[in-house]
Amino acid sequence: SEAERNRRIEAARDTLGDDLVILGHNYQRREIVEHADFVGDSYGLSREAAATDAAHVVFCGVTFMAESADVITDDEQTVHLPSMEASCPMAGMAEALQVDAAWAELDELTGDEEVVPVTYMNSYADLKAFCAEQGGLVCTSSNAADAFEWAFDRGDVVLFLPDKHLGRNTAHDLGIADAAVEWDPWADGGADREAVADAELVLWDGYCQVHERFTSEHVARVRRERPEANVVVHPECRREVVEAADVVGSTATIRETVAEADAGETWAIGTELHLANHLDRWHPEVEVIPLCGDACMDCNAMRQIDPNYLTWVLEGLVEGEDRNVIEVAPREQDLAATAMERMLEL
Ligand code: 13P
Ligand code: SF4
Repeated sequence: SEAERNRRIEAARDTLGDDLVILGHNYQRREIVEHADFVGDSYGLSREAAATDAAHVVFCGVTFMAESADVITDDEQTVHLPSMEASCPMAGMAEALQVDAAWAELDELTGDEEVVPVTYMNSYADLKAFCAEQGGLVCTSSNAADAFEWAFDRGDVVLFLPDKHLGRNTAHDLGIADAAVEWDPWADGGADREAVADAELVLWDGYCQVHERFTSEHVARVRRERPEANVVVHPECRREVVEAADVVGSTATIRETVAEADAGETWAIGTELHLANHLDRWHPEVEVIPLCGDACMDCNAMRQIDPNYLTWVLEGLVEGEDRNVIEVAPREQDLAATAMERMLEL
């Protein structure tokens, strides 16, 4: 039962004391976030990982987040991911080997221009390492505009990976949308080489399958059926959805927006369903509705973190057994750390 499982989790926490910290992303289910020491967005979680002295960090999120925690913690600290199946499909859309091959082509297309790569936190550590090696950095949805400016201070062209929607939305914020082009080096018939050669911002053709499913019709329906409602969406949504919304921001911004709402207000939430459900529970004075109505927008990767697996990892630690350790290779760790430190210094 849930009560029995909660008892086991709390018993393990008591035994491990300060040796343990549990971090949970805002998209984790209720049965997980209730046990987390810190629940936040990708940026906040990476700051918590950097700050903690705990010997064991149990990361309830997806692989790239646990990798980032490993990169940013000390060598003696171990990072555990309750399910090794929790892999973000978007991160898989830009594998370092692929990007390396495309980089040579981009170099040819851009001639004498200096290209600086910026990768979204939602990418594997080897891609973060590649970006550091090429003079670039990491960003999250809460600091993408600052990261782009950092990169433009150092080069002529920015390559942003893997999320084209966050890239395009950030380009609009910076007033450079006309100079942005989407690029799939392996598209049928080849990429539009001239457009890429002329672009200031090249957007890798990746996307989040959860956020891409939101459409402007979802926003239009809320406006029709609930004219009093406000709409907040994540910048991984398509441009037209972001344009139709009232507020756009990372999952931390979405949380703050609802936390600061007046009693009686209605907010439609355009992000992963679990966060909408948490906000509904955490803020009974606000009416929280999912932007997608009855359509289910939950993330398959986040859902892999089952509370039974969390229990199994914690009880392993009590028995002195390190289960589901995420460990980034040393050379990649150093480079990926550089790319992430550049972000943390923004
Ligand atoms: P943030 O929590 O940084 O907004 O990220 C959203 C997301 O899709 C994480 O996978
Ligand atoms: Fe990846 Fe999207 Fe899931 Fe985030 S919500 S882990 S970006 S698939």
